[in-house]
Amino acid sequence: AAISVLNGPNLNLLGLREPGHYGVKTLADIQHSLEKQAKLLNHQLSFHQNNAEHDIVELVHHAYTNAVDFIIINPAAFTHTSVAIRDALLATKIPFIEVHLSNVHAREPFRKHSYFSDIAKGVICGLGATGYELALQAAHQILAER
Ligand code: DQA
Repeated sequence: AAISVLNGPNLNLLGLREPGHYGVKTLADIQHSLEKQAKLLNHQLSFHQNNAEHDIVELVHHAYTNAVDFIIINPAAFTHTSVAIRDALLATKIPFIEVHLSNVHAREPFRKHSYFSDIAKGVICGLGATGYELALQAAHQILAER
């Protein structure tokens, strides 16, 4: 199946950015291990990072146009702000899993609210880069069961 991984703002700085919260792996490290895992599971993975909200909205639209079956998304700060990305996911009806590297419930109160969790297939947070791998494993299972 076709699976798209979408990463929001500042995730291009992983490795450098607050390693206490986000770990020492870079986004390229995460991409590399997901691509390996996807290949083993026979999925076509596309991996993206964008700092701009409108670009992420368009990536969701492109996912629809390209018949992407499943989205794994870390909306980063847009988690807590973006009605536009939420609406894009609702409009396209592409099933998705929400991932956060850090445990958003153990941080500032404003990180507890997500515009995505209630419409996600599932939510993973606090497990670092492993969260993306678990999301891909879960996506594989959900797609096999449909
Ligand atoms: C994040 C958590 C968000 O609150 C934050 O704005 C991010 C990253 C995470 O992966 O833990 O940029 O989504």
